[in-house]
Amino acid sequence: MNILIIGSGAREHALCLAASQSERVQLVFVAPGNGGTALMGGNVHNVCLNATALDDLLAFAVENVIDLTIVGSEQPLELGIVDLFRRAGKKIVGPTMDAARLESSKVFAKEFMHRHHIPTAGYHVFRDASAANAYVESTQTVFPQVIKASGLCAGKGVFIALDKEQAVNANNALFEERIFGDAANEVVIEDFLQGQEASIFALTDGIRYKLFLPAQDHKRIGNGDTGKNTGGMGAYAPAPLVTDEIRHKVEEKIIKPTLAGMAADGYPYTGFLYVGLMIDDQGEPFVVEYNARLGDPETQVVLPLMKSDFVAALQASVDGKLAEAPFEMHQKSATTVVIASGGYPDHYESGKAITIAGELFTMEDCLLFHAGTSYVDGRLTTAGGRVFSVTALGKTLKESIDKAYKAVEKVSFDRAYYRTDIGAKALNFQSMVVL
Ligand code: AMP
Ligand code: GLY
Repeated sequence: MNILIIGSGAREHALCLAASQSERVQLVFVAPGNGGTALMGGNVHNVCLNATALDDLLAFAVENVIDLTIVGSEQPLELGIVDLFRRAGKKIVGPTMDAARLESSKVFAKEFMHRHHIPTAGYHVFRDASAANAYVESTQTVFPQVIKASGLCAGKGVFIALDKEQAVNANNALFEERIFGDAANEVVIEDFLQGQEASIFALTDGIRYKLFLPAQDHKRIGNGDTGKNTGGMGAYAPAPLVTDEIRHKVEEKIIKPTLAGMAADGYPYTGFLYVGLMIDDQGEPFVVEYNARLGDPETQVVLPLMKSDFVAALQASVDGKLAEAPFEMHQKSATTVVIASGGYPDHYESGKAITIAGELFTMEDCLLFHAGTSYVDGRLTTAGGRVFSVTALGKTLKESIDKAYKAVEKVSFDRAYYRTDIGAKALNFQSMVVL
């Protein structure tokens, strides 16, 4: 079969690798892909079409006899790519535009969770600065408060306000300065949840589901989870924090009610369901956010740990046969470290020449996923905020972390930046559990 993957990040590079390794796949196309997918060769080909050019993508899928399309990034889902492909009789993995509102509208997601008694932080919705400011200035409001643009903001539309002044500044930035434009026409202000974060992904056909290994992302730019939120600076899996008992609670209290609730409300949810969790000190999970796709950088650890055929599982999900599909994982750990352009998530420069030491390609169980890279005059150059995601597998989490950092040293460009503590929290957690 022939596969089309939509998106251009390290997540899509990892999707291309998994798809190209499937025995049932002949050709893999990625639109638009990146410098790394361009280099893969073999049966993988970049297609010069933007991820939001829906009509062109459909025409490409028809002309090239694509059997299955996998949507990596959120924008095409919000624009209704799944509805469009299905109307044309083309198989595609992802939720419809209505169902993707679990990610594309935080107001929709919060109201949905409230309606279906799915555990999440208490919240209020605002449509102008004066009402939002009156709320944060009320003596009843307990800080911190979390202030979120309702629409898509590439993971950056969230402010954690420690006091009234910070909250008013955030409200004004969203409503008056309109730093995220129409994505902040509605704003959710929610209570601050204490605990540890983890991400769980399900593949679902709307009724049945299968879970990938739980992962933990590192969203802040700086070591020790300091500084601004980013799209994600590194991840590891499986996250020891998510014990069997917690996973069971997540399934019973979150995943099953989410799928049942979406179906009951008339928006059956298909594709990948990403549940961003906060787990409190009693081991109770709360939903921080839903996403309508796989996470980036979590995919770069979750997919290399999958033992059974990824494409076979996807095919089973679109054919309503998910229950029978093998869904086995390797008994290993994986860590990925994101290398970003200096300055990210604020202003950064692109077009820097990249050097990769050849040894990296001989390092066992190491994978170099490209994100913001492109070829300019035959030279690999930086072309985005997050530039690479360097993954390593190991028998233990510690081994995978050490290997990933060794591999990171083999990549260089001017003002390259990465966190040096990816996975450290989990090692501390493991040692606490052992004690
Ligand atoms: P989101 O885009 O909604 O996942 O938020 C980005 C990040 O902000 C999350 O990964 C958390 O670290 C943090 N965050 C969001 N909502 C909350 C909350 N209610 N309580 C504590 N932290 C939060
Ligand atoms: N890792 C966060 C995200 O994909 O949204």
